[in-house]
Amino acid sequence: MASVSAQQVEDTLKTVEDPNIGKNFVACKAVKDIQVEGDKVSIQIELGYPAMSMREQMATLINDKVAQLEGVKDVDITIGWKIQSHSVQKSLKPLENIKNVIAVASGKGGVGKSTTAVNLALALSAEGATVGILDADIYGPSQPRMLGVSGQPESSDGKSLEPMLGHGIQAMSIGFLIDEETPMIWRGPMVTQALEQLLNDTRWRDLDYLVVDLPPGTGDVQLTLAQKIPVSGAVIVTTPQDIALLDARKGLKMFEKVEVPVLGIVENMSVHICSQCGHEEPIFGTGGGERMAQENDVELLGKLPLDMSIREQVDGGEPTVISSPDSRVSEIYKEIARKTAAKLAGQSKDYAAKFPKIVIQNT
Ligand SMILES: Nc1ncnc2c1ncn2[C@@H]1O[C@H](COP(=O)(O)OP(=O)(O)O)[C@@H](O)[C@H]1O
Ligand SMILES: [Mg+2]
Ligand SMILES: [Zn+2]
Repeated sequence: MASVSAQQVEDTLKTVEDPNIGKNFVACKAVKDIQVEGDKVSIQIELGYPAMSMREQMATLINDKVAQLEGVKDVDITIGWKIQSHSVQKSLKPLENIKNVIAVASGKGGVGKSTTAVNLALALSAEGATVGILDADIYGPSQPRMLGVSGQPESSDGKSLEPMLGHGIQAMSIGFLIDEETPMIWRGPMVTQALEQLLNDTRWRDLDYLVVDLPPGTGDVQLTLAQKIPVSGAVIVTTPQDIALLDARKGLKMFEKVEVPVLGIVENMSVHICSQCGHEEPIFGTGGGERMAQENDVELLGKLPLDMSIREQVDGGEPTVISSPDSRVSEIYKEIARKTAAKLAGQSKDYAAKFPKIVIQNT
């Protein structure tokens, strides 16, 4: 019996879709190597985003098709990933030690931006990335509480700060440096300055992703931050009500203005799930997130229910992704994490990190 060719295997891979991107593996440039030895086929897949919890499922998708080919008896599939640095605003340079900054923003406060940011960060970490979180909500820092971390960061030289560690991710927040009980009065320029310092003076350790929990709103402070922090992509959190969506749209416009790609939106508090009987009720209406995504041509990354356990877990310092990693809600956060990272992987790379700077001199 004639053995299969690598080309035939590749053609077959063109019919298998990467579920996190919605394009086939060849089109995603994820097929790194194909080897054929007699009736044995080995396939190496290299994704641009972490996907620990979906490895097996993706291998099965591929195996189901390739094993059908005539002359194939044994299929060996390895799935790995390599996270690259993606470009930032034209006038800025990416930060050292941080491959990608992902900003999490919302049009207004109280929509669950911090809850989403911390669960997104933890989900990226669970999927296999090295992750940090910067709590940039200087008015109401909540990451120390949400990560269940207290104490003060160490500084060996009196200038730089070691990030704190919570549930396996690196974290920095103004909440670690000032007393939570003492309200601070910040003027706009002070906010940006303090945040630039927190970002730049923290000794982040080789992060694939730094998730930034931005202050809520789309005012001057947020705009300045969006201009000054080198961001590779933004995620916008909204609740499904019309007014919230209106504010979220302002967020989209703000990132458009500073040329930061919006990776997608997350609809939070979508349906209420009754903790007594489990029945679902869309108290804030339905379809808002979908509509907004469609109208603005951005992806709806996922929808989180209004669920008492999300609040109890995050407010208790053990966000859902950590306290019930196998729950439906954790699955949704992980799917959002994979889709966010996959979307980012499809953006242009930061070539400065790859090629030496070329200087052309007139002689
Ligand atoms: N999907 C959800 N279901 C239930 N409670 C939630 C959900 N998302 C957030 N919360 C709760 O709502 C409150 C506000 O969330 P938070 O993340 O602090 O909002 P923001 O950062 O946008 O101001 C918190 O007490 C949080 O625990
Ligand atoms: Mg918050
Ligand atoms: Zn009920």
